[in-house]
Amino acid sequence: MVKPNTLLHNISLKPYNTFGIDVSALHFMEIDNNTLLKEVLFSEQYPEPLLLGGGSNVLLTKDVSSLVIHLNTKGIEILSKTQNHAQVKVLAGEVWHDLVCWAIEHDMGGIENLSLIPGNVGTAPIQNIGAYGVELKDVFISCQGLDLQEKKEVTFTKEDCAFGYRDSIFKTNKGRYIITSITVELTTQNHNKNITYGAIESQLKQEGINTPSLKQISDAVISIRKSKLPDPKILGNSGSFFKNPVISKEKFNALQKEYPEIPHYALGEDQQKIPAGWLIEQCGYKGKRFAEVGVHKNQALVLVNYGDAKGEQIWELAQNIQKSVQDKFNVYIEPEVNIY
Ligand code: EPU
Repeated sequence: MVKPNTLLHNISLKPYNTFGIDVSALHFMEIDNNTLLKEVLFSEQYPEPLLLGGGSNVLLTKDVSSLVIHLNTKGIEILSKTQNHAQVKVLAGEVWHDLVCWAIEHDMGGIENLSLIPGNVGTAPIQNIGAYGVELKDVFISCQGLDLQEKKEVTFTKEDCAFGYRDSIFKTNKGRYIITSITVELTTQNHNKNITYGAIESQLKQEGINTPSLKQISDAVISIRKSKLPDPKILGNSGSFFKNPVISKEKFNALQKEYPEIPHYALGEDQQKIPAGWLIEQCGYKGKRFAEVGVHKNQALVLVNYGDAKGEQIWELAQNIQKSVQDKFNVYIEPEVNIY
């Protein structure tokens, strides 16, 4: 444990990124309160700071010479409660899955499908985290943050955030805003349980559960995730490395002629989303290991660090995969992970 709220130097970032990449930060500070966070970020002293929350969506390819801040602000507060809903404000440094567990303990529904997603609350809006038919935007009310350009506090409504599939204004304005807390609206009764997503439905069926509680849905999601996705504490990874590409209907029709079994989800009339994991598997990468890096055996979307990989090695593998998918399918797959 490092001393919080103290400026440190030459700190290894290995414990602060789920890929487990060992690069160093010239300046490092773990911050547990928003007053200090604001003071540090608005001072002219440390330009272009790198913020790490859970470090679950970043690939570090080099030592960091700007200030690295590990945000560790904690707090969950019920702002208001009506008969059916509660608005809950959560500080950015809370671990996302801890919030999910808290909601379930308080019989609050809406985020149980998002169980076990790695990362912290403050980074959840950046890529509008999603799994098993639910996205953060479905429960999101607003978030508070700091605008590093204008040096002022800002509040974003759901509309302001322009959420899309793994997308938001925080991605399109990279580096400008720091999210300090989010407010979500959860159900307190008559929960809208979303269990139609294939894997959840079959998991519950297998367990003989017809009307699942929030906890049982969460447990089902946890067991599906554990069966497919490696635990970063054991095998370094950052979940899906790539986004699922969205292609035009024309391009999809041509691909389907050649590959009739291609999985796909229609997005409106004109577009189709293709699982990148399938494209990567077709290129022969699933389960392949190249020295210290590899592609996970149960989910080709996940790149793994077998121990001592360098960030550049993972990035090199990612680029080779991109090229193979491009050559075979003429489809570009974009990284979901931020490359630093
Ligand atoms: N598939 C393959 N090979 C693979 C992986 C997947 O053929 O190696 C095929 C599956 O057979 C299935 C389809 O791809 O037909 C979809 O697979 P899955 O349901 O596992 O979902 P995904 O599209 O691969 C997305 C998210 C995951 C999320 C799951 C479940 C993205 C980039 N990833 O994966 O998110 O858990 O859906 O909702 O959208 C994450 O962001 O870290 C993450 C794990």
